[in-house]
Amino acid sequence: MGTQRSMVSVSSLLKLFVFFSVHVRAQRTTTTTTTTTTEFTFRGFSGNQSEIQMEGAAMIKPNGLLRLTDRKSNVTGTAFYHKPVRLLETSTRSSTNVMVRSFSTSFVFVIIPSSPSNKGFGFTFTLSPTPYRPNAGSAGYLGVLNKENDKDPRNHVFAVEFDTVQGSRDDNTDRIGNDIGLNYNSRTSDIQEPVVYYNNDDPNKKEDFQLESGNPIQALLEYDGPSQTLNVTVYPARLGFKPTKPLISRPVPKLSQIVQEEMYVGFTAATGRDQSSAHYVMGWSFSSGGDRPIADMLDLSELPHAPPNTAKKRGYNPQVIALIVALSGVTVILLALLFFFSKYKKRLQQGEILEDWEINHPHRLRYKDLYAATDGFKESRIIGTGGFGTVFRGDVSSSPSNQIAVKKITPNSMQGVREFIAEIESLGRLRHKNLVNLQGWCKHKNDLLLIYDYIPNGSLDSLLYSKPRRSGEVLSWNVRFQIAKGIASGLLYLHEEWEQIVIHRDVKPSNVLIESDMNPRLGDFGLARLYERGSQSNTTVVVGTIGYMAPELARNGKSSSASDVFAFGVLLLEIISGRRPTDSGTFFLADWVMELHASDEILRAVDPRLGSGYDDGEAKLALVIGLHCCHQRPASRPSMRTVLRYMNGDEDVPEIDDNWGYSDSSSRSEFGSKFEGYVSSDRASSSVASLSVTRISSTSVMSGR
Ligand SMILES: *[C@@H]1O[C@H](CO)[C@@H](O)[C@H](O)[C@H]1NC(C)=O
Ligand SMILES: *[C@@H]1O[C@H](CO)[C@@H](O)[C@H](O)[C@H]1NC(C)=O
Ligand SMILES: *[C@@H]1O[C@H](CO)[C@@H](O)[C@H](O)[C@H]1NC(C)=O
Repeated sequence: MGTQRSMVSVSSLLKLFVFFSVHVRAQRTTTTTTTTTTEFTFRGFSGNQSEIQMEGAAMIKPNGLLRLTDRKSNVTGTAFYHKPVRLLETSTRSSTNVMVRSFSTSFVFVIIPSSPSNKGFGFTFTLSPTPYRPNAGSAGYLGVLNKENDKDPRNHVFAVEFDTVQGSRDDNTDRIGNDIGLNYNSRTSDIQEPVVYYNNDDPNKKEDFQLESGNPIQALLEYDGPSQTLNVTVYPARLGFKPTKPLISRPVPKLSQIVQEEMYVGFTAATGRDQSSAHYVMGWSFSSGGDRPIADMLDLSELPHAPPNTAKKRGYNPQVIALIVALSGVTVILLALLFFFSKYKKRLQQGEILEDWEINHPHRLRYKDLYAATDGFKESRIIGTGGFGTVFRGDVSSSPSNQIAVKKITPNSMQGVREFIAEIESLGRLRHKNLVNLQGWCKHKNDLLLIYDYIPNGSLDSLLYSKPRRSGEVLSWNVRFQIAKGIASGLLYLHEEWEQIVIHRDVKPSNVLIESDMNPRLGDFGLARLYERGSQSNTTVVVGTIGYMAPELARNGKSSSASDVFAFGVLLLEIISGRRPTDSGTFFLADWVMELHASDEILRAVDPRLGSGYDDGEAKLALVIGLHCCHQRPASRPSMRTVLRYMNGDEDVPEIDDNWGYSDSSSRSEFGSKFEGYVSSDRASSSVASLSVTRISSTSVMSGR
């Protein structure tokens, strides 16, 4: 030892020099006429890919360990020094008198069994004429030989085997299972010794230890050429000193029949079908030639860390673990099947088999519950019917008012429902005091059921027009103005204040529900899209209600917040005047109010039933705002935010510009006839079929269209 070790540990400045000299020393072949010396030392194998020829499962791990096999079953791995070693001294004196040259090798290895009860098969230090072992068998052949060439003298193989399997030989020659044997051209050992080391204090005392303990083990092979003696010493590396008495020390004259002029030196290892260990070499030194070659000592502290002994933690061998895993897997699957089957059966009974996309919606309600709440959708429960569907009153204990309104819609196509549900889900999160609260939804067969808060007072439509009104009174001015403001702020919320723009598309009195304190709530928002989506894509279906539809809708069919503003304008004029937006065709509310405005008589538009019970300023304001909203050009209409500012007196209402009607004509009657033209056009008439006429009050009258 000594020189090379100290050279390796000198300072980094001298590394280049060290590398060079180690390299030279490692490769040194001192050739005289008869002798060639080989010396090398691997303290770990990092960067030594080219010096070690590996086959099979063998590899150099990133941490520098040379792994011969992993714990896979039935594998072999071999690792030989890449250059042959001259081992035969061809005596010049006599060609018959050949002598195997002295050599010395030391290595530290670790065997990690698969489990305490599953280990094998072992590994060897081998002298071979080739740097690999072609067709070598696994298990008891230890990666050295095979069935065909076993015992063949042409093998020229000598192996020192480190065997960890008891009875690994067919011929019952191996009975120990933790032994070291010397093999000549055969898997059967000539000499076999149980693994022990001799105590230095008492050389007669044998200390036994296990090869597959998972701890590093040091082995020393010393062969003396002249005396043909081979010494084998094996001991736990943690001892830190070499036992002076070898485990095996005997003449091996047979070696001369094996060894050829040049031999490769290295390791082989194998695992069996049912028994396996991982075999590692941590370091290896070799020296041959000369009078008394001595391989470098390997100090554990200079070698890479031993692999962790994972076998200790394992209580079961892989087969048992596999069996446990398989059995528990089968059990889990069976239980899951049983669980889902019983769920499915229950759902089947309730007619509630859900498609994937229907699950995981927070607002989805159970059909069963709605069915019960509405007495099975009884006719006497109907509180309204309309283009979008029928509305039922439902009794539930969970709702604060104990009542719900269930709108049953049969969409003209279920195609769009899936996307629409996503929208319903988001509409379900809308919360505003001027919007009807959508509690949830349910899909049942071809029906879509929307569940709203039940609002008992009825719709604005019925309050404005039903005669006689319950109290015989007409809606007071203040109430009308408050309702108009409430609707405006509900629309503002939809257009601007929520996380996404919601276009109502069907603003009209029957969609405004009035609470008992006269607070208005806008309903059916966003619903019209269901019809637009569900219809064939090649025709544009305009959804809305005649009289409230903005002129541009007839042209491009595109709803926008401006078209909502138009409808609001009509509604506002309607609230103030108590007149429907249009009659059989000659009367148009907006035009009429515009004419009054032009002749400076706008207050004549105020509902005559109010008598003098109204505020002149507010009435004038509201009517002018209504006219602004009914501007023919969408861009000239105010936004709902501006409308509210006007109504609250936060901003002055500007003059109505000259383009209010159609620019090519200032005639209001012409505008009116054009407007009439829209509603009777093919497109608009196709939309008539889907007019939304939804009434929450059973007393309301379908009139005015
Ligand atoms: C192992 O590899 C290292 C780094 O490549 C090299 O310095 C050393 O000489 C090699 N050892 C042998 C014995 O070839
Ligand atoms: C082991 O592997 C070899 C090939 O690598 C195959 O021929 C042989 O049948 C295998 N033996 C067992 C017991 O699986
Ligand atoms: C082998 O061991 C014997 C007994 O300990 C010793 O006398 C001999 O020198 C050893 N030979 C070598 C080559 O180390």
